[in-house]
Amino acid sequence: MALVHARAGGKGINVARVLQQMGQAVIATGLAGGTTGTAIRDDLRTSGIREHLLLIAGESRRTITAFSVGDAEATEFIEPGPAVGPEEWSRLLTSFRELAPTARVAVFAGSLPPGVPGDAYAQLCSIAATAGVPTLLDTSGPALLVGLAGHPTVVKPNLREVFAAVAELEGEVPSDLAAVGSAGNTELEDVLRAAARLRSGGAVSVVVSMGFGGLLAITPEGTWRAVPPKVSGNPVGAGDAAVAALAAGMANGRPWEERLARAAAVSAAAVRYPVAGGYHPDDYRELLRGTTVTPWRRSSW
Ligand SMILES: Nc1ncnc2c1ncn2[C@@H]1O[C@H](COP(=O)(O)OP(=O)(O)OP(=O)(O)O)[C@@H](O)[C@H]1O
Ligand SMILES: [Mg+2]
Repeated sequence: MALVHARAGGKGINVARVLQQMGQAVIATGLAGGTTGTAIRDDLRTSGIREHLLLIAGESRRTITAFSVGDAEATEFIEPGPAVGPEEWSRLLTSFRELAPTARVAVFAGSLPPGVPGDAYAQLCSIAATAGVPTLLDTSGPALLVGLAGHPTVVKPNLREVFAAVAELEGEVPSDLAAVGSAGNTELEDVLRAAARLRSGGAVSVVVSMGFGGLLAITPEGTWRAVPPKVSGNPVGAGDAAVAALAAGMANGRPWEERLARAAAVSAAAVRYPVAGGYHPDDYRELLRGTTVTPWRRSSW
């Protein structure tokens, strides 16, 4: 059976959708262009999500996710993003400078389109910091490494992203990763070390998402692991749901344990949901009851 869903996506929009579902006021901003850009705006409007997208000359990209229900395999076909001109980028900065002071948290998510400066996320994080707004950065590769210079309040790499970033920082070739889903202490210590490296590179806190292995948070206040019940479904966008819950917790000043429990439960609920950028509240409530959050003590995990 094939189910076809077409909707406005992209990491930032997935995060905005989940935040809206969680009852948080949210504004989606960024760059959009062409007929796909118009479709994205219309779709957001239909979903009741406030948007502040700037129109650009290029055509917004489409991605196609083919998800096989039988073997729970997802394949993504991703177009390159549209080229962004220097004038378009500077308009986005100006607009974000105006928008930032109205926010309680700013989330930056996804890869950078061609044409924007390599330190785009560092620039945006600095603007938010100047406005006194905490930031959450979810990206990978050079965009993440260079973004650290903007001192993001939280970065949320997945396992692959955190090890690749650290390998790059240390000038190594990233090794292929064994699944740390059911990680023993040695592997978790590798993750802790990698996260510590990103913190020394500029991130205040690092939350590593580890698939069904849950979330590992290394923060100035302490280190915790949150583990949701293992579920089956479509994992694409689960990280975006975790980001949304972490951002809501930051905006509302919730303690880390609570943020992490909610992020683990909502992201597990997002796995059960057929498309990225949503979850069933009943799943969330059920999975939250089964989620554990444990502070780090050597050999306690
Ligand atoms: N099978 C699963 N069962 C329960 N929870 C899961 C499962 N897979 C993922 N999760 C939850 O979702 C979170 C995010 O997953 P993952 O680490 O795969 O993120 P990601 O790779 O950034 O995903 P994406 O970028 O596609 O949104 C995990 O930390 C965990 O809480
Ligand atoms: Mg992700």
